[in-house]
Amino acid sequence: MAVRYTPEFTNVAESPMVQIATAAERMPGSIKLCYGESDLPTPAFICEAAHDAALGGHTFYTHTAGAPELREAIAKKIHELHGVTYDAPEIMGTVGGSMAIYAAIRAGVGRGDNAVIVSPAYAIFSNAVIMAGGEPRPAALAREGARFGLDLDRVRAAIDSRTRMLIVNSPSNPTGWMMTIEDQRALAELAERHDLVILADEVYERLVYDDKPKGLSPHLAPSFARVLPDKDRLIVINSFSKTYNMTGWRLGWAQSGERTIKTMYKAVEFMTSNPAAMVQQAGIVALRDGEPYIAELRAHYAQRRTQVIAALASIPGVSLPHPQGAFYAFPRIEGLADSTSFASTLLADTGLAVAPGVGFGRDGEGYVRVCFASTAATLGDALVRFRDFVTTRGALPSSPGGS
Ligand SMILES: Cc1ncc(COP(=O)(O)O)c(C=O)c1O
Repeated sequence: MAVRYTPEFTNVAESPMVQIATAAERMPGSIKLCYGESDLPTPAFICEAAHDAALGGHTFYTHTAGAPELREAIAKKIHELHGVTYDAPEIMGTVGGSMAIYAAIRAGVGRGDNAVIVSPAYAIFSNAVIMAGGEPRPAALAREGARFGLDLDRVRAAIDSRTRMLIVNSPSNPTGWMMTIEDQRALAELAERHDLVILADEVYERLVYDDKPKGLSPHLAPSFARVLPDKDRLIVINSFSKTYNMTGWRLGWAQSGERTIKTMYKAVEFMTSNPAAMVQQAGIVALRDGEPYIAELRAHYAQRRTQVIAALASIPGVSLPHPQGAFYAFPRIEGLADSTSFASTLLADTGLAVAPGVGFGRDGEGYVRVCFASTAATLGDALVRFRDFVTTRGALPSSPGGS
């Protein structure tokens, strides 16, 4: 008899990205812009801090929610950046932002409940809702000229009596869309009216390129924490992965009310327990000394963003909502109905791997995601391959010249 698995796991959608990435890994010379990470290594000062911490005795378990000094360092950074006060017990260090997202969703969404997700969105949200036995409900962003924008009516329409959570990621993976403070106020009002928790994923908050919202520091996305004073109604997710190029280290955090954080770490004790002790120490050093590095990184990505916007603008049939933050371009290709087969033919023909838009939900179909966190030369080569493929093959790989 075949082994049976739970529907919570069998219903998890297989990512079309994995298919593309697996084929790309087997192909010598392929350019992999399908991943959500930079091709730059973690800076040496952070690696050295982890090395010193391990030799200095940081090799034991810590509190599940992280060492007190990490939680305090995060609290200090939140205050420095956003001017809001969170105390250490209102913060928990996690094994990547991913674990924080999973724990937050498991704490708030149960069987028969649903969560509204502003979409297209990183597939972790819908799949965590499915793993909790709930129903993910996408609420599509609107296209507003050269931008994406929040469509409040769609969010409202998706909410019903079983809705428990409203999930929003800004700056967004995959669209680069960044929420305004007015958007946040409107969502906060909806959350209060319908008794929902907001899960605000702010992992790209430091990678912002234009449109400084009034009254905020330049190059910083506005945090939801500034508009929602009821801390338990909001869970902010953040991570060291993108800000410090620490994707492989697995360190992130959740911030909320103390009651929510306690509820989450009580359960995480029996999942991952604490993030690695020496990684936490490296995280403290990143927070303390990392500002010049972040500024350099942002300048590097800003140039790549300009490069990608210019190159995609020159391709007939391709339109790019300008990314305001994060490090992705999410172009729409006229006539594209199957982004997975487009991406696999693009890879087979040119050796360029991009992520199919449908991997970010049905609202992402018709698009592909190009990660621009790479060197000028690699990105330039990739964009030439992309342009040649689209201009000769069009959106429908099986019909040369088709659109
Ligand atoms: C929007 C968003 N949230 C969370 C994560 C998870 O990051 P990590 O688990 O590496 O902290 C990612 C990674 O790609 C992401 O794009």
